[in-house]
Formats: sequence, C-alpha cells, structure tokens
Amino acid sequence: MKKQRIISIISILVAFVLISSSTALADSYMLPSLSEIYKDHFHIGTAVSVASWAPKTLFSHGDIIKRQFNSLTAENAMKPDYLQPRPGVFNFREPGNLIRFAEDNDMVVRGHTLVWHGQTPDWFFRDKSGNRIDEKAVVTEEDRQLVIDRMEAHIEGVMTHFGDIVYCWDVVNEAVTDDAAHIHRQDSPWVRSVGEDFIKIAFRKAHEVNPNAKLFYNDYNAVAPYKRGRIVSMLKDMINDGVPIHGMGIQGHWSVNGPSISEIEDALKMYADLGLEIHITELDVGLDGATEEQQAERYREIFQLFKKYDHVITSVTLWGVADDASWRGDEDPLLFNRNHEPKPAFWAIVDTDKPWYVNKAECNGAVMFKNNAGENLGTLVPGEYALDSLDFKLEEAAGLEVIKGHLVTFYELEDLQGDAWHFISTDEFNGADLANKAKSFTIQYVDAANIALNKSVEANVRQDRAHRAVDGDNVSSWSPSDEPPYWVTVDLEEPYLLNRWVVKLQGTGPLAGGIAESPLNAADFKLMISEDGVNWLDADTVEGNTASVCDRDLNLVTARYVRLYVTRPTSLDINKNLVVYEFEVYGMPLE
Ligand code: G3I
Repeated sequence: MKKQRIISIISILVAFVLISSSTALADSYMLPSLSEIYKDHFHIGTAVSVASWAPKTLFSHGDIIKRQFNSLTAENAMKPDYLQPRPGVFNFREPGNLIRFAEDNDMVVRGHTLVWHGQTPDWFFRDKSGNRIDEKAVVTEEDRQLVIDRMEAHIEGVMTHFGDIVYCWDVVNEAVTDDAAHIHRQDSPWVRSVGEDFIKIAFRKAHEVNPNAKLFYNDYNAVAPYKRGRIVSMLKDMINDGVPIHGMGIQGHWSVNGPSISEIEDALKMYADLGLEIHITELDVGLDGATEEQQAERYREIFQLFKKYDHVITSVTLWGVADDASWRGDEDPLLFNRNHEPKPAFWAIVDTDKPWYVNKAECNGAVMFKNNAGENLGTLVPGEYALDSLDFKLEEAAGLEVIKGHLVTFYELEDLQGDAWHFISTDEFNGADLANKAKSFTIQYVDAANIALNKSVEANVRQDRAHRAVDGDNVSSWSPSDEPPYWVTVDLEEPYLLNRWVVKLQGTGPLAGGIAESPLNAADFKLMISEDGVNWLDADTVEGNTASVCDRDLNLVTARYVRLYVTRPTSLDINKNLVVYEFEVYGMPLE
C-alpha cells in the first residue's frame, strides 16, 4: 500500500512539473521571436553560462534562448582560465554543451575571448623559476618570447579545436586604457611581458590558425568620447600595419541615463569609417534608478539606431537572458525579468516604431474581461468584434483590464454603427447592460499624439512664456517663480477623449542632465479639464512627486480645455520656482 501511495505521489509531482514546464514552454513559444524579427538586420544573441551549477544555464533559460536568439556567446567558459587552466591542459567540456546547443538549434557562436588581462591564469606570465615576468624590472627577450609562445599556443589550441563553428572571435579584449595619457593599459601583464604589440601578434596568429574566422577587437566604454578616439587610433595603426582585423566589438554595458543616442551614433560612424564590421557584444541597459518603462524606451531608441546602422552592425548580443542571471546584479538590465517573463524592454524592441504596450497588446491581448470574482473570462487583441462572436458571456463581465493607451468602444448596432460607449480599465463594467444595448465593439490603440502641442495657452503667471510648455522643445520652459498656485490652460480647439497626460519637469532640462528624481521637480499638481473653459473638474491629482517625468494614464475623460494646476512647485518649501519643459495630453478626437 505504502509503495502504491509513493508511486502515485511521484506521478502527481511529475505531471505537475510537465504541465508547469509545458505552460512555460507554451508561454515562451507564444512570444514574438526576436531572431525572426531581426533576421534581415543582424544576428541577435545572448551570453550564456553553460555550467550545470549556475541558475543562468543554457538549460534553465533554454526555451527563451531557442525562441529569441540565433547567436550564443559563452559568458565565461571560453576565456583563458576556463579553457587552459594549466599549461597544455585544455578543458573543452563546458563549451561543448554550448556548441552542441548551438548546432542543434541552428545558431552561430561568437568566441569570447582569446587574449585578455582578466580571467587568465597566471602561469601564462611565470618564467621557468616561477617568477612573474610581468613584474620584473627588466624583461629579457627570452622571457618575452616565452609569453608570446604561450599566447600563440593558446590561440592555436583553442581555435583549432572549435574550427569554423565559432565564426568570429574577440581576439583581444579591453586592451585600451581608461587613462587618457596612454592608449594601451600599462597595467596589463601582456603589455608588461610582451609589449604593446602583443595585440598585433595575437591577431596575426589567429588569422594564421583560421583564415575563415572573423577577428574582432572588443572593449567597454567604446562609444565614450574620452576613449573611442584612442581605440580608433589603435585600430587605424593595426589596419595600416596590415594586421588582419575584421571588426570592432562594442560591449554596450549601458544604462537608462547614458550614453546618449548621439554619442553611440558618432562612435558607430567612427568605427564604420575604418571599414570594420561592428558587433554589439555585451548589451545590457541598467535601470539606474529609472522605471522599467523608461528602460523600455531606452532599448527602443537603441535598437532603432542599430537598425539604422545594420549595414555595418552584423550582430547584437545581450549580455544574458534574464535579470536573475545578470552580472550587474540588481540593476535589472536585461529583456526578461527574474521570473523569466518578458519586460517592457522586450516588447519595446519587438517593433521599435510602436510603444512597448502596443506590441504587447497585439500579442498578449489588450483587454481582459473579468467577472465579479476577478477571474478572467476572456482576453482579446485589438480589433473589431461582434458580440455574438465572443466565446464567453459578456453579461458575466464586471470589470475590464485594458492595456495602457488602448480603448474599448461598444456600438449600439452591428458593424460599429449607432450610439457608442467608451471604456478603459475599470472595475465598474456592467456587462449585462452592454450585452442588452450593444451589438459590436472595437479594441483600439489610441494614437499617442500629443494634442496639446502648439495649441493656444493662457497662464495666471508668466503668460509671455506659457507657450513654451507646449512648444515640443525640451530646452525651453515655462518657469514662474512668483507665488503659487500657478496654472496654464491649453485650448485643444475641439473636444477630445483623453487617456494619458505627461509633464516634463526641471530634471529633464539641459542643466539637470536628465536625472530621474529631484526635489526641484514640481511636487503637488493636478490636471483639470473643462468643456467650456469656465467650469473645471479635477481629472487627476499628483502629490509628493519628485520624478522628472510624470507620465500618467487617465480614466477616460472628454475635454476641450485642459489645465495644469500647480500648488507646490518643488519639494523645498522655500523654493517657489516651477520649471515645466513640456505639458502634454494624449487622446483622440471625440467624433
Ligand atoms: O567558476 C567559479 C565557480 O567555480 C565558483 O563556484 C563561483 C562562485 O565563486 O565563481 C565562479 O567564477 C565566477 C565567474 O564569473 C563564473 O560565474 C567569477 O568569480 C566571476 O568573477 C566571473 O564574473 C564574470 C566577469 O566577466 C569576470 O570578469 C561575469 O560572469 C561575466 O559576465 C563578466 O563578463 C565580462 C566580459 O567577459 C568582458 N566585458 C565585461 C564583462 C562584465 O565584467
């Protein structure tokens, strides 16, 4: 009996695991595929750990990797300390998993990295007596040649083993110093043992071992004005010297607050002008105090730029699959969260011409109909629907969960004719009432145009500059500093259905440098609406704000006039100076 019970418990557990993993699998395969989306632009890849002891293994992230990526880089298992821990003793076991996974899933493999001052066993730099050659006051030619021989043997042993399945290599990683006084890192054991020409020797050896392999130089902060110029001059010298180099690896360890798109674009042009291919080799964008939505916008801008340069960018690799496995710890820099769910950043790059929540809505559904127990009756993507086509009972619906920027409009008659009733997210949805009076409905994305832009304005103070709050220019501001309250009214010229409003405050200005939070940002303020410019209602109230960008959804309201009404211009009661760079409202014409 006991044995029977144990067997049945095990079978239940096994079933549970299969169901949950298959659900996860199903979820994975329901998502749009980035490798499919970007297939005409560049390879899109990820760094992976291949060891079984790491949570971030090829296998625990396997479903996402198969669905999203077509290029793999070993995060650590193809570095010198993993591949040749002792002289002449190569360890290819862990990378073997990666190579097999790549071959089984039709993926390419980037080799990272052959020669680096990091993660390199110190035997490379010890002379026959065990002394560190790189620490000697004088390095003899014999010592120098010993280290060169070891470097070349490592390159030969590794590249011969992998052959063409590793189609490109970061031959040398991070050789340029952050110290503006030099080009090469003077603290590198390679420079101290061999000299600055170790790089040219490495590239020449790599090309000799495998002339088919594409050879890259890889570095961090490679777009930063303080460093990119020196990288370029090193690369120019290599090219002029006939060194076989094919590409520049820009690591891309960035954050929501920098580097700027223009900085990245200037660097792309500089490397492209050398005639080099560009790989983005280790992309991750740390939150740095920003929101996941701001991170999404950042990823969107970055991938828009990468697509613009897909004539020189041939590979983009994320430095990890999900935030549970990022080397950047709690900065949460990747596309998938700690539960392996897609973040707004993932949705943002699915289609960089649309906001992330529109892409998500088109795939996962824009509206969830819920019953009065909060259970999901049905989820629908944007589109046009006849009530009698639903596979759930509308009369049971008591609430709607609508993705940001979307609107549900029910129509009295079929074919979206007759009287109309508009909804966004609400807990008070009377499905029975609508089932009686409506025959069709639409779910649509409300085109996010800023309808306040360049409309006529009236302010209670500094009327002469009030138009700057709606001029679309993030450098000019309306900045009253008299005595609050301050308000500015915008005439939208016709009635609109509003579903979002945005205020860009002091922190978004050129002087503040785009900081996410500041006590100099408006603290207490509200959005007021009016049909006639005389009778006003409060539509949304903000208190205790410190954010530089206030971006809020609205429960659908109609208005011809909108007013930003500020009662506390900063969090510092002595400072009455309000700075508004932009006041924006989003919606659609009511007709
Ligand atoms: O292998 C040991 C394991 O045996 C031990 O149990 C474990 C816990 O101590 O440590 C493991 O080694 C760690 C290794 O990652 C594997 O997880 C090292 O301590 C740790 O320092 C190493 O960090 C890696 C780092 O390079 C080392 O410099 C990161 O995972 C990796 O993401 C990072 O990647 C570098 C690129 O190669 C070059 N560009 C910068 C990028 C970020 O630093």
